[in-house]
Amino acid sequence: MARNKIALIGSGMIGGTLAHMIGLKELGDVVLFDIAEGIPQGKGLDIAESAPVDGFDARFTGANSYEAIKGADVCIVTAGVPRKPGMSRDDLLEINLKVMEQVGSGIRKYAPEAFVICITNPLDAMVWALQKFSGLPRNMVCGMAGVLDSARFRHFLAEEFDVSVEDVTAFVLGGHGDTMVPLTRYSTVGGIPLPDLVKMGWTTKDKLDAIVQRTRDGGAEIVGLLKTGSAYYAPASSAIAMAESYLKDKKRVMPVAAHLSGQYGVKDMYVGVPTVVGAGGVERIIEIDLNKSEQKMFDKSVESVAGLCEACAKIAPNLK
Ligand code: APR
Repeated sequence: MARNKIALIGSGMIGGTLAHMIGLKELGDVVLFDIAEGIPQGKGLDIAESAPVDGFDARFTGANSYEAIKGADVCIVTAGVPRKPGMSRDDLLEINLKVMEQVGSGIRKYAPEAFVICITNPLDAMVWALQKFSGLPRNMVCGMAGVLDSARFRHFLAEEFDVSVEDVTAFVLGGHGDTMVPLTRYSTVGGIPLPDLVKMGWTTKDKLDAIVQRTRDGGAEIVGLLKTGSAYYAPASSAIAMAESYLKDKKRVMPVAAHLSGQYGVKDMYVGVPTVVGAGGVERIIEIDLNKSEQKMFDKSVESVAGLCEACAKIAPNLK
């Protein structure tokens, strides 16, 4: 059986990390694509030279032409610019929208059967535009945000409770921005919901509120520390989990930015919701009951994503 082909569109910090992880996990052969000449070739060669040491078999090809992604099973998109300190994800909209137009037409031409995972920010608007520019089925195009936001939430919770990260589950809904909605009542330690842990005296409501806020600001915290770019290890791990669930038909239940056509009262937008990811792409959208305050937070988040989509449509009227 031939190996899977995974195309990384954008070979910067996240793209390079993705390529290395794909090798280490033997998920398939990798094509690194970028507009910068030499970067994808150099990173590909460097990783290929690590393979004999780590003992994995995979082919790494660097490319500056979309033709190289031909027939890819998965495309992971990080092309564009990341934010710098003081910038919000939304500040990237105009420049990254133009990039999505090029990426969309490249995928449309060379990899129309692929499962596409977008990471470029502002995420919910970029994945919405990318699906339209590429013309691929909506269930085959999704965005990576919820797995990352939930992972950040889980890390902070595991630290607070001094327990294994493996036993902490967390749920973050909504857009990938300051309005994201970490749902405490659906987040657990060993199956015990967070509000119960407050009652049990494991933590206080104030501490939990502070962790929720730190999760919302998780990306900015890293940007503030790195100063020259944004997070890449955890974003790469999160996208790999999604790609693996698709390639191995694991049907994992994961929060992803998925196309909504009426679910949660939202039409023709990409927003972070719980889904099932398997061989059919985003196979199912799970609609959970939200209480009043959760619904209010979710609506606010959707409103901010809608504003970004409108801003995109103003720049590129063919998106509507
Ligand atoms: N086509 C292809 N690649 C492009 C294009 C384009 N039109 N424009 C820029 N790139 C490439 C850059 O050359 C660079 O190598 O995209 C890569 C982006 O890499 P980094 O700048 O290192 O950014 P990274 O940290 O990987 O983040 C990428 O993901 O999380 C988001 O906000 C982040 O939007 C950013 C994206």
